[in-house]
Amino acid sequence: MRLSVIGCGYVGLVTGACLAEAGHQVMCTDIDAARIDQLKAGKVPIYEAHLDKILASAAKAENIFYTADAAEAIRFGEAIFICVGTPPRPDGSADLSAIDHVAQQIAAEARSPKLVVEKSTVPARTGIELQRALSAYSRGNGGFRVASNPEFLREGTAVEDFFHPDRIVVGVEDPAAAEQLREIYRPILERKFTCPVHPGKCPDTHKAEFLVTTISSAELIKHASNSFLALKISYANAVADLCEKLGGNVEEVTHAIGLDPRIGTQFLKAGLGFGGFCFPKDIQAFISLAATVGVDFEILKAAERVNKQRIDRFMEKINKALWVVKGKRVALLGLAFKANTDDIRFAPALEVMKRLLDEGAEVHACDPEALEKAKQQFPRAYYHQDPYQALEGSHAALICTEWDVYKKLDWERAGKLMARKLVVDGRNLYSPGKMKALGFEYVSFGRE
Ligand code: UGA
Repeated sequence: MRLSVIGCGYVGLVTGACLAEAGHQVMCTDIDAARIDQLKAGKVPIYEAHLDKILASAAKAENIFYTADAAEAIRFGEAIFICVGTPPRPDGSADLSAIDHVAQQIAAEARSPKLVVEKSTVPARTGIELQRALSAYSRGNGGFRVASNPEFLREGTAVEDFFHPDRIVVGVEDPAAAEQLREIYRPILERKFTCPVHPGKCPDTHKAEFLVTTISSAELIKHASNSFLALKISYANAVADLCEKLGGNVEEVTHAIGLDPRIGTQFLKAGLGFGGFCFPKDIQAFISLAATVGVDFEILKAAERVNKQRIDRFMEKINKALWVVKGKRVALLGLAFKANTDDIRFAPALEVMKRLLDEGAEVHACDPEALEKAKQQFPRAYYHQDPYQALEGSHAALICTEWDVYKKLDWERAGKLMARKLVVDGRNLYSPGKMKALGFEYVSFGRE
């Protein structure tokens, strides 16, 4: 099928690339013309595992095209995926101006009926407003149908998640829209694709469920999923604080409670808390949406509060361990909001960096992918690709992101380079016993 994707950020680019790799003809557009030029030149503007590979193979198969001309993209597809940003406004609610702008463009430029699919994360009832805007701006002549098709892709494993989803949710108002979306996702549902992630055979996971709901339900499913996961993380973090006070070990506790299938072991990792451009903004948008209809989403406010306090708790640990922070050289390992991405938006590490710099520390940061982006925001810090260079002469190693390379660090070697053998671990990557045996002062979350 011919498809259009508006917005070439994390969501749009992955969606466009994967749909093209699944055999569709996809045209992608973005208001950032430089980004389109980059893509046309075969450059991938974001780091996402396997994305470069599938963009190259889709281009070779002539399944993916780029244009800075939104009208061209709009006219190309039978279905148009809206993947533009919905950033938070100062009051926490989602800024939907980009969606509104795209609706006006579609209404003005489309020359045939279109299925308009909202992929961006939006508050419930956006689909209804989108339908209203399309109809108003096209003066009722467009023949547009609207659907909500939320994405559940995790950054870092987005391509894998796209080809192996748990569920594909389509919120529609008419059965034809559901059928069109089922057709778009048929290669995924029937597993008829060459998997870019698993070269031999894909793991035997259960088949994706194709769920047809109302548009408002689909929009709610997305916000409710992300908020629930955020809630789980904050719960684990509150338990970690209790463990510290009462002498428990949070890893033992969360592992045991997670074995109950009603709870599940995932998203119970205590530490510096959640960041990124999804959880922090989605939880706020959900709270704000609830407030507009008179529902006080107290439980989510608490989850957000707990999460913000994680940075305070981390700084307390650093201050307690170092006594005086001013003038100390510290190695900050990990800048991205989580491993396997270069995304630093709302990354806990950046807030830690800011506070350390404000306190007068000499920060030597490293990250496998996010250095360039961080440098632009904090030119006052020193940056290293090699963690051992960051650790050399440092009075403390501060772990902020759970990158595999940091899990596998040679601490014996690092210890010899450091001015003081102190590790403050914001991601609970190491065994306290082993670190102690290596002669380190070791501080983590929720463990003795
Ligand atoms: C999240 C959701 O997991 C996706 O399903 C969703 O599609 C996406 O948001 C989105 O709305 O676009 P993502 O933001 O990529 O994906 O990252 P996660 O893997 O969910 O991690 C979020 C944050 O929580 C990270 O900072 C991570 O370090 C933290 N986290 C995660 C914990 O602190 N503890 C955990 O146990 C798990």
